[in-house]
Amino acid sequence: MNDATSFGVHRLWKDTFVSSLKPGKKGPKRCIDVAGGTGDIAIRILDSARENYADRETSVEVVDINGQMLKEGFRRFKKTMYHNTPQISFHEANAQALPTDKFMDDTYDLYTIAFGIRNCTSIPAVLKEAHRVLKPGGTFACLEFSRVNNPLLGTLYDQYSFSVIPLLGTILAGDRDSYQYLVESIRKFPPQPEFAQMIREAGFTTGRDIDGGAWSNLWGGIACVHTGVKI
Ligand SMILES: C[S@@+](CC[C@H](N)C(=O)[O-])C[C@H]1O[C@@H](n2cnc3c(N)ncnc32)[C@H](O)[C@@H]1O
Repeated sequence: MNDATSFGVHRLWKDTFVSSLKPGKKGPKRCIDVAGGTGDIAIRILDSARENYADRETSVEVVDINGQMLKEGFRRFKKTMYHNTPQISFHEANAQALPTDKFMDDTYDLYTIAFGIRNCTSIPAVLKEAHRVLKPGGTFACLEFSRVNNPLLGTLYDQYSFSVIPLLGTILAGDRDSYQYLVESIRKFPPQPEFAQMIREAGFTTGRDIDGGAWSNLWGGIACVHTGVKI
């Protein structure tokens, strides 16, 4: 369905997201990909580190609240060279309250969350946990649907979102309500400056809002990458 509703564009956004993070550039990284059940981000991190920096030690711990999603990610990784290596592992846990015995303080170099934070009931709780588990100097990176500022693009996007996506949900998945929820949850997610402020309030430093350093819009803000560094 992701492919159908976005015409596969979510894959390009994920490619851009991961390549902007340059995993493996300054040596192997310990990464955690939260709400990452599909494994889409984890595979890109490992491939990017391997292909660009000959790094075969960067590792990703994939965390998701939904065991079925994790099974799907695990199944996909079975077909890859990373299967049964220390580079990948899957864990069932809530992003808002990662078990402290398993996900210890100051552990990771990179925390990623893609199209997941919007689904969590408390964004500040997720950010607080991200800050806790990252090492000082570690990077928080979030890919999420966001706000379109261009009025023309905004109108077209609204029409597509409210008319086409629920219809596609009905036709392809027999589930209009979930796709209506998707569209509405995107509109409720805080706009770029507000989310950047929440990231700072959780203890991260970000670039400046004014020159776009705090975030990077994709497709005019339909999606957006936010990053922060743990101080
Ligand atoms: C739209 S999927 C995105 C999956 C993946 N990151 C990607 O981009 O392909 C959203 C994911 O968030 C997970 N999720 C929702 N609430 C969560 C929570 N509180 N903690 C951890 N994962 C959560 C869901 O189970 C689901 O796998």
